[in-house]
Amino acid sequence: MKRVVSGIQPTGALHLGNYLGFTKNNVDFIAKEKCEAFLFIADLHAITVFKEPAELREGIMSIVASYLACGLTPDTCNIFSQSSILEHAELGWILGCYTPLGWLNRMTQFKDKSARYKSEEASLGLYSYPALMAADILIYQADYVPVGDDQVQHIELARDVAGAFNRKMNVDLFKLPESVILKGSGRIMSLRDGTKKMSKSDESDYSRINLTDSSDEIRKKIQKARTDAIEGLSFDRESRPEVSNLINIYAAVSEVSVEEVVNKYSASSCSSFKKDLSDLVISVLEPITSNLNRLLKDKGYLNEVLKKGREVAQPIAASTLRKAKETIGFI
Ligand code: TRP
Repeated sequence: MKRVVSGIQPTGALHLGNYLGFTKNNVDFIAKEKCEAFLFIADLHAITVFKEPAELREGIMSIVASYLACGLTPDTCNIFSQSSILEHAELGWILGCYTPLGWLNRMTQFKDKSARYKSEEASLGLYSYPALMAADILIYQADYVPVGDDQVQHIELARDVAGAFNRKMNVDLFKLPESVILKGSGRIMSLRDGTKKMSKSDESDYSRINLTDSSDEIRKKIQKARTDAIEGLSFDRESRPEVSNLINIYAAVSEVSVEEVVNKYSASSCSSFKKDLSDLVISVLEPITSNLNRLLKDKGYLNEVLKKGREVAQPIAASTLRKAKETIGFI
């Protein structure tokens, strides 16, 4: 059976962009490819940028609940926290010793994130982040790593590190993983600015639809979503980013093509399209939202899910780590 491995940072309950880009695609991919899946909450990665402990704790539980509500259940995948399997950090250290600084210096995410700090105040963890991410993936001998396009460079680095280790030690220990670019991920944009990704960290709550939002909130947010002064509906991300985003959301939620949506609504007013879009989004999210809100209150169950996932994942991680340690000469 092929193996899928992916992580998501615990930044709180998910939004519509995460649902359409990450969870829904993963549910479909795992079912279609009949894969064994390891989906973890990347809490070790989360602290590469400071997080308030209470927020982090809440964020972890929210992701578990969101996964479950979106259909990533313990029957279809193993869900656990990265920090609960010590082997990740240990292999991360070892692989860090096989990762040349030159490779890390090329990582665009580090350049972007560290640029937000004053000079040299970004953490060592933020810099070595890709070595730990390589460990997350290689420790399970992953075949596929579903990610958004912003993470592809990190998967390439994981492949390079795996290859470098295998060649240097003359072994065939680490499998080279393939990234699976989640279709539509990253293409769900802010409701306030069609050129920016829908994001948990956007200060305006009106920029996103949270999976915890009530029907009224969803309706209000879509009603207030920015559009433009051009009459009728047409799809052009360059000249009509906000309208195109709404069309794309409609297409993604109803699983039809953008062309079909444009054909259906080309003569409609924005307000009547928005009304239909609200009805559609509400009908799809309602069962997810009610499930999510129920799960968020059941911390006992969420902990059980994490424990169960850990029990499956840990022995696999331990076995790969043992082989790596033997290979490098540890006794
Ligand atoms: N860096 C990823 C992100 O921010 C999360 C992550 C950590 C991950 N380890 C991983 C994703 C391993 C895939 C595989 O989105």
